[in-house]
Amino acid sequence: YAKSNAPTELTLLADKIKAADGYIMISPEYNHSMSPALADLLNHFGSSLFSYKPSAIVTYSAGQWGGVRAAICMRTFLSELGCLPVSAMIHVPKAQDVFSEDGKPVAGESQSSWFNYFSRTFGQLIWWAQAAKEHTEVVDPQSLLKSFKTDPSQRNAP
Ligand SMILES: Cc1cc2nc3c(=O)[nH]c(=O)nc-3n(C[C@H](O)[C@H](O)[C@H](O)COP(=O)(O)O)c2cc1C
Repeated sequence: YAKSNAPTELTLLADKIKAADGYIMISPEYNHSMSPALADLLNHFGSSLFSYKPSAIVTYSAGQWGGVRAAICMRTFLSELGCLPVSAMIHVPKAQDVFSEDGKPVAGESQSSWFNYFSRTFGQLIWWAQAAKEHTEVVDPQSLLKSFKTDPSQRNAP
């Protein structure tokens, strides 16, 4: 869409993405890859809104691997967008047994183990998000772009 022609929903979403300090990228595993819906959303907005901010990868599946193969693809994808994934990831196998229909963790003995598991990834995300935000206030990342402003060939090796 040309800037002024985008539907209101997309403009509001772009504002939300721009305002965020970091991202939790949640995806089921489809054919060992990330959700096409999430890929489409990320492709639509592109790197300018996401870059220089960290992300955390969270995957789930109905089976036993918890979407780990999708997560590996997401690392490359998110790195290219410029929102670098933190090292810890969250994978939820048999998601239908872990969460209730309203998205809350099912009560039980394993609940606190899940919270501990999540907190490692989210702790890293928060640390990097705060660090990136503070440094962005010191150095505007866009000011570093000397080339690659108009043509992708501008970032080719000489
Ligand atoms: C087209 C399709 C491909 C799938 N591929 C995988 C897969 O590669 N690995 C896996 O663990 N589960 C796979 N699944 C199962 C999904 O992980 C499971 O259906 C999950 O609930 C999808 O999340 P959603 O219900 O939020 O869309 C696939 C499901 C569909 C419909």
